[in-house]
Amino acid sequence: MTAAVPSAASAELSPGVPQPATGDATSPATASPLLLVEDLEAGYGPINVLHRLSLTVYPGEIVAIIGANGAGKTTTLLAISGIVPARAGRIVFQGRDLTAEGIPPHEIVRLGLAHAPEGRKIFPRLTVRENLDMGAFTRNDPDGIAADLEKVFTLFPILRQRQQQPGGLLSGGEQQMLAIARALMARPKLLLLDEPSLGLAPQIVVHIFQVIRELNRQGVSVLLVEQNARMALKNAHRGYVLETGRITLSGTGQQLLHDPRVRAAYLGE
Ligand SMILES: Nc1ncnc2c1ncn2[C@@H]1O[C@H](COP(=O)(O)OP(=O)(O)OP(=O)(O)O)[C@@H](O)[C@H]1O
Ligand SMILES: [Mg+2]
Repeated sequence: MTAAVPSAASAELSPGVPQPATGDATSPATASPLLLVEDLEAGYGPINVLHRLSLTVYPGEIVAIIGANGAGKTTTLLAISGIVPARAGRIVFQGRDLTAEGIPPHEIVRLGLAHAPEGRKIFPRLTVRENLDMGAFTRNDPDGIAADLEKVFTLFPILRQRQQQPGGLLSGGEQQMLAIARALMARPKLLLLDEPSLGLAPQIVVHIFQVIRELNRQGVSVLLVEQNARMALKNAHRGYVLETGRITLSGTGQQLLHDPRVRAAYLGE
């Protein structure tokens, strides 16, 4: 870290939470954001779901968005991925204005922004290996793809063992691992994760978050949305609270974990 003056964030990161692998997430003012979302409006049909939503992810950060059912978490990620169109505002990734340039979703993946969607959405009839190959669809570097396949098999050894089986035969936790691994095959700089812990047994959730932190140590920035607020905030450098399409609170993971409003509304305390 290069911060001359220790920020609140660096003081409050919980022990064991990795420091950003690159950049300086604890003094964002000194770095330019990897992802900048500004005054984003998006929705479905006549309904606007997101209302002037702004957030940033700096290089090396894990950033969490927490919120109740229907708050707009998935819509936020879909808009960043270009799947749900932005109606107003800007989404700037690595200095490129995705909204103004009208960059389509597959090009957004190619730029380094990959998305592991809600409900995993793996291809159940394709084998594990074929699912992973699909994740590399934007790439044309066989050696790099082979190296990344080896990396995801190291992160998730079960996928190596099951690589010839249809994805649909994996357990829920294994399918979540496959969804994350498939996104990683695009070699993203920023990984969007939609509810990675949903429906999983506690020890699988712990494993998934260990992998998220390991990926982050390796230099992948992460924007994750979660209903499991405690797990998300414990593992995130920073977080945002989303309520009916609006950001109502933000801070470091530790600040939000200790905020009485977050404790009452999202931590069941
Ligand atoms: N395809 C769609 N068409 C119409 N409305 C939708 C569609 N998808 C989501 N919505 C609505 O948009 C709002 C936000 O939904 P979204 O899925 O973004 O919430 P969420 O925070 O991800 O919720 P959850 O925690 O249940 O996953 C909800 O009111 C939802 O009913
Ligand atoms: Mg959702």
